[in-house]
Amino acid sequence: MPWPSFGPLICALLVSCTLPIENVRAVSIQFRGIKGVLSNSPRRLVSRAPGGLTLNNTADLSYYADIVLGNQTFQVLIDTGSSDLWVAGVVGQSNDTGLNASINYAANSVSGPIKQAPLSFADHLVPDQAFLEISPDNKNPAGVGILGLGPSSGSFISKKVGTLPGAPVLDRIFYQNRTTPNFFTVLLGRDKDPTDAFSGSITVGEVLPEYQAILNEPHLAITQVPDEKSDDQHLQMLLDQDGIIGPDGKTISLVSVVEQTKDKRQATVVLDCGFTLPQLPRSAVDAIYSRFHGAEYTQIAGVGGAWVLPCAQEVNVTFKFAGKRYPIHPLDMSMEFSTIGLQDILTSDGERACIGTFQPFTYDRGLNPNYDMVLGMAFMRNVYSLFDYGDFIEGSTALEDPYIQLLSITNTTEAHQDFVTVRLGGIDTTGTRGLRDSTSKSGPGRTLYYIIAAVAVVAVLVAVAIFFILRVDVLLWSRLLDQLSLV
Ligand SMILES: *[C@@H]1O[C@H](CO)[C@@H](O)[C@H](O)[C@H]1NC(C)=O
Ligand SMILES: *[C@@H]1O[C@H](CO)[C@@H](O)[C@H](O)[C@H]1NC(C)=O
Ligand SMILES: *[C@@H]1O[C@H](CO)[C@@H](O)[C@H](O)[C@H]1NC(C)=O
Ligand SMILES: *[C@@H]1O[C@H](CO)[C@@H](O)[C@H](O)[C@H]1NC(C)=O
Ligand SMILES: *[C@@H]1O[C@H](CO)[C@@H](O)[C@H](O)[C@H]1NC(C)=O
Ligand SMILES: *[C@@H]1O[C@H](CO)[C@@H](O)[C@H](O)[C@H]1NC(C)=O
Ligand SMILES: *[C@@H]1O[C@H](CO)[C@@H](O)[C@H](O)[C@H]1NC(C)=O
Repeated sequence: MPWPSFGPLICALLVSCTLPIENVRAVSIQFRGIKGVLSNSPRRLVSRAPGGLTLNNTADLSYYADIVLGNQTFQVLIDTGSSDLWVAGVVGQSNDTGLNASINYAANSVSGPIKQAPLSFADHLVPDQAFLEISPDNKNPAGVGILGLGPSSGSFISKKVGTLPGAPVLDRIFYQNRTTPNFFTVLLGRDKDPTDAFSGSITVGEVLPEYQAILNEPHLAITQVPDEKSDDQHLQMLLDQDGIIGPDGKTISLVSVVEQTKDKRQATVVLDCGFTLPQLPRSAVDAIYSRFHGAEYTQIAGVGGAWVLPCAQEVNVTFKFAGKRYPIHPLDMSMEFSTIGLQDILTSDGERACIGTFQPFTYDRGLNPNYDMVLGMAFMRNVYSLFDYGDFIEGSTALEDPYIQLLSITNTTEAHQDFVTVRLGGIDTTGTRGLRDSTSKSGPGRTLYYIIAAVAVVAVLVAVAIFFILRVDVLLWSRLLDQLSLV
């Protein structure tokens, strides 16, 4: 998908990290899971899967599927946020269309000749699938690629080749066999989950047997972007009014920036299994993490601005769609620094720090964004998701509008136990940690604003003085600035 630009978080990582180059790539991918390929994955977990095509989960940072293209097998990152297929290497038994294309992602782009070859994916065969063949390099070693599962209106290849011969994989599968139901499903495993050991699955046109209940879930309409912005059409839907329940059990106020949304309290969210860290408006992320002792939005050397919090802090957050609750596993609310190849840091209270997995946008969505949030892997591990293309597919006889169904697969009791096992060494100390006073009061009185403003001015002066007189490091300086910007 044409994610507009390359976020500061990733840029900062790439330019100032002292990690070996291989690790830097690994680090860059988890912020922008898609659009880059992890070649020296920390670990691959493939275990009991409940059917479908098994995915390789690389440390909760990316999920790969095996496809056969031409004469060989490729490992492709599954990506509901983009719409094209590319692989690195030389694909035998392929034909060259004579056309070239580039696929642009937030973090990078790839380009090469558009070829066609027989494709086998999740028990479906396409005789002449169009794809981009790119030259392998350090970043994209031979044998890897990305499989875009998003709507065809975002496809760079079909723009060059034409609708049918250049159509994305799912369009081809659904088009060529009208009796295959027009949906696919995604199940993402959790690397360190002590009770659910599957790595992930993807299915096309069928539902995993043990999650049939998804078919009874409400249909969440895929919201359509205006025609002139159809390039930016994603698998997106509306969250309920103020549909995030924060750690204090209260809803978090949301204001949509999407022009065509009627009820501004309903955020438009994109489901993107190619994005490791969900991207939310800054105010929502602050409301989630700011309440914990030791949590701060800070500049991490080599990373940039991000929320960090004690690894031992259990964070309970729930999303709401169509009146149903989708709790997030506390292990998905923060991530250990080692997972992303960085050294551990401590919070100001001296506790081991984890990085929040829900972060403010790290890239620019441009003017008039078409969505308010990108719910990536950390969200998607908590649901079994079904994406029905309805009449999205060219030539489809389906009359239904496209929709998404979500089945919650996180049991809060079990999730709490998992957190105690993994993060607290089995001893439940979660009850001893209170919440800080809310910083995001809705509508504080005018006087309070003045007091805050006065305090802020004094703080700036003090900070400037400290900076110039004592020459404290830049890190502290940015921390102070960040705290002020919360006001
Ligand atoms: C997972 O990775 C292993 C090791 O690289 C590989 O043998 C296997 O084919 C992969 N499976 C999938 C589904 O990608
Ligand atoms: C596939 O074909 C290409 C080009 O002919 C060749 O270089 C490659 O070795 C073949 N791969 C396999 C696995 O047969
Ligand atoms: C495609 O790219 C190749 C390599 O850069 C170039 O030689 C060729 O002329 C390009 N073809 C078209 C149609 O632009
Ligand atoms: C490649 O071209 C040949 C000759 O036109 C054709 O028979 C074959 O089906 C094509 N293969 C693919 C994968 O498009
Ligand atoms: C078409 O799809 C249906 C349902 O997935 C399947 O039973 C059938 O075998 C498929 N037909 C062909 C020709 O692939
Ligand atoms: C959640 O898990 C607990 C403990 O394993 C179990 O007793 C309970 O029935 C489960 N709740 C639901 C709704 O499945
Ligand atoms: C999180 O939710 C679980 C399950 O409802 C509960 O047992 C636990 O106390 C909660 N933790 C916090 C920090 O609120």
